[in-house]
Amino acid sequence: MFFIKDLKLQNFRSHSFLDLQIVNDIVCIVGPNSIGKTSILEALSLITDKKGLKASDASDVIKKNSKEKTIISSIINLENKDFKIDIFFETKYLQVKKNFLLDNNKSPKSMKQLNNCNFIWLTPQMDKIMYEGNSLKRKFFDKMLSNYDHNYKINLNEFKKMSDERIILLKDNKEKKWLDILEEKMTEHLWHIYVCRRNIIKELNNILSKNLLNFLQILITIENNYDLEDIDKKNFYYFFTKKFLEKRELDTILKRNSVGPQFDNFILTNRETNLNSDLCSTGEQKKILISLILSFIILNKHKNNHSILLFDEIASHVDGKNLELFFNEIKKIGMQTWFTGTDKKLFQVIENKAFFVELY
Ligand SMILES: Nc1ncnc2c1ncn2[C@@H]1O[C@H](COP(=O)(O)OP(=O)(O)OP(=O)(O)O)[C@@H](O)[C@H]1O
Ligand SMILES: [Mg+2]
Repeated sequence: MFFIKDLKLQNFRSHSFLDLQIVNDIVCIVGPNSIGKTSILEALSLITDKKGLKASDASDVIKKNSKEKTIISSIINLENKDFKIDIFFETKYLQVKKNFLLDNNKSPKSMKQLNNCNFIWLTPQMDKIMYEGNSLKRKFFDKMLSNYDHNYKINLNEFKKMSDERIILLKDNKEKKWLDILEEKMTEHLWHIYVCRRNIIKELNNILSKNLLNFLQILITIENNYDLEDIDKKNFYYFFTKKFLEKRELDTILKRNSVGPQFDNFILTNRETNLNSDLCSTGEQKKILISLILSFIILNKHKNNHSILLFDEIASHVDGKNLELFFNEIKKIGMQTWFTGTDKKLFQVIENKAFFVELY
């Protein structure tokens, strides 16, 4: 198991100083608007995520008009062992750098211990994933898949790096041989992304139909404009190396790669109505998002990943009568979970099981 034992914030967002000792798996942060609840979840998310739950720049988290250093300090417990984590935000040459220490150690090797630790979050802003088009859905899936599978993240990052390199080579209009090699490597990363996406979607659909019967039944599918269904590795390589070649001229003009992981679209269907999430009502869209997040959480549990769950403003996603059902599911999953809300009454059904942090 992975859990937070202690969290200290110094000059982080609106918090000058905050010190929390946590003695429970369920933590409810309660307080009025703008008191700093979401900021606490954001600080936690930054322990394993580069940009955190608000996807902010490092400079944004530094408390305005403060001269002291901004620090997130935490004791985490991972499989019965305590680790001290310190994240310092330092301004150098007008740029803010995030420095990460694990047990006072900076080496990347020591960070590897956190490779299969992650934070899974749901925030009110994430509702737009349901209605703001394909690219946001893809971005969400890529993030969740990267969280779940470190290799997926590496393949995505490598592809992106090579894409930039390809554009430079195209612009220079020489080194054709190197371009061939690069495009072949890009195809290789694309193949891993392609396979991983389909395998995980299969597992998620399985979890949705077997483990989450109390929640809205949804189906996840992947669509694209290419005829790739059941394509094997050899034909995939043939297809994409040809595509890269075809697009060289266009991509030189566009100064971007028109071939890449963006060819896939993730489609979410409400199984009760057989309608695509874009056509669902706001309430249905919230339910789809809850089913989806829960399926990802259970997937992480099946892989023995170490996850901590962060639900910001849970009341904005789950209505009163479904809250108990939701809390029961979370309890069953058995991961440390942090909730925020403006009203303590919201958490009445878990009052005896939760640790409350009341901010005022
Ligand atoms: N860098 C910063 N320096 C100082 N204050 C900041 C900084 N960034 C954000 N804030 C402020 O911190 C306050 C707390 O924000 P936060 O989102 O954590 O509140 P919240 O308790 O979640 O509120 P709500 O219930 O409205 O969601 C806000 O007033 C916000 O404007
Ligand atoms: Mg908030």
